[in-house]
Amino acid sequence: MPDTPFTFTLPFPTLIPSHFDNHIERRLSSLKGQFFDLDTYQKMLAVEDSLVYEVYEIRRPEAAGEILTGISIVHPGKVGREFYMTKGHFHAVIDTAEVYLCMKGEGCMVMENPQGETSVASLYPGSVLYVPPRWAHRSVCTSRQQDLVTFFAYPGHSGHDYSTIERQGFGKLVLEGEKGIEIVDNPRWNKP
Ligand code: F6R
Ligand code: ZN
Repeated sequence: MPDTPFTFTLPFPTLIPSHFDNHIERRLSSLKGQFFDLDTYQKMLAVEDSLVYEVYEIRRPEAAGEILTGISIVHPGKVGREFYMTKGHFHAVIDTAEVYLCMKGEGCMVMENPQGETSVASLYPGSVLYVPPRWAHRSVCTSRQQDLVTFFAYPGHSGHDYSTIERQGFGKLVLEGEKGIEIVDNPRWNKP
């Protein structure tokens, strides 16, 4: 990996980086147990393991002092009334923060700290979100047609802890209601 300055571009309309090192695809099957409507989830999965989101990573050493960047794309879709979303995670080194810049689409970031406090921030083109250290984060696409595209940057040594969220879920669900988007308490939340 060269230790010299480098640039890349995020070309419209896809915003897929002109240079990237890793492309991750996450499908319905990787979100087992996370959507509230388990019945609908199983039925959808039996028909097709649909693509829910993708991540394009720019690789750098996973070391303090480095910054890892990339593009996250959550596709539009729902399981029952619940919008497509990322798995969500704490950082393994929990006192590491992250910055997101929303470049396209509509959505929100569901966040939660180890004390069980929750927070939900809107994401819209041009919005910048600072996720402080210790807050787990999950992005949700609430548009019916458009991808939610965000650029992210976080410390190189952060790592990812997915298992805590797989076990306890998030305290809030983002649903499509009759009058628009509803953020409701998750009845299956294993509150810390
Ligand atoms: C990195 C980060 C994002 C997410 C991406 C996919 O720390 O928060 O790059 O990794 O939005 O979400 P997850 O990792 O939860 O599958
Ligand atoms: Zn993160």
